Amino acid sequence: MAANHTKSILVLHGPNLNMLGLREPHHYGNDTLESINQRLAERAAKAGFGLECFQSNSEAELISKVQSLATKSVDFVIINPAAFTHTSVALRDALSAIKTPFIEVHLSNVYAREPFRHHSYFTDIAVGVISGLGAHGYMSALDYAVSFLSNQPA
Ligand code: DQA
Repeated sequence: MAANHTKSILVLHGPNLNMLGLREPHHYGNDTLESINQRLAERAAKAGFGLECFQSNSEAELISKVQSLATKSVDFVIINPAAFTHTSVALRDALSAIKTPFIEVHLSNVYAREPFRHHSYFTDIAVGVISGLGAHGYMSALDYAVSFLSNQPA
């Protein structure tokens, strides 16, 4: 019989999200990244799932982290690619390569902002997109991931 596998979720945060709390609160709210990550970890633990959070300002580090999933048992990804949303074919290609399902999250409503934010390199390969709900967006994405994974075989 297969060993019991605790399903796990990776939350990826792109550039400048380490500045949350200080950074343009009218767009991104007052929560720090640390407090969002803590809430996510508590929520995942309550549901019986593992959760890791990773933030980087470097495209290369984010790509390497995604590539590492090819040999790790991560079952779902929640990603806010931040500015790389609008620029990074390379990060998109990494996510396409590993095939782990993911949700794209944005704190702000990118469609109500500058036109250059209206295009995402991720949306068409994502399970779904949440944009404009602030930190709630991450919690909703986690709730979806939990329900999605609960309906998958162990
Ligand atoms: C963002 C929106 C992006 O356009 C921006 O570059 C970010 C954050 C958001 O969460 O609203 O850094 O992804």
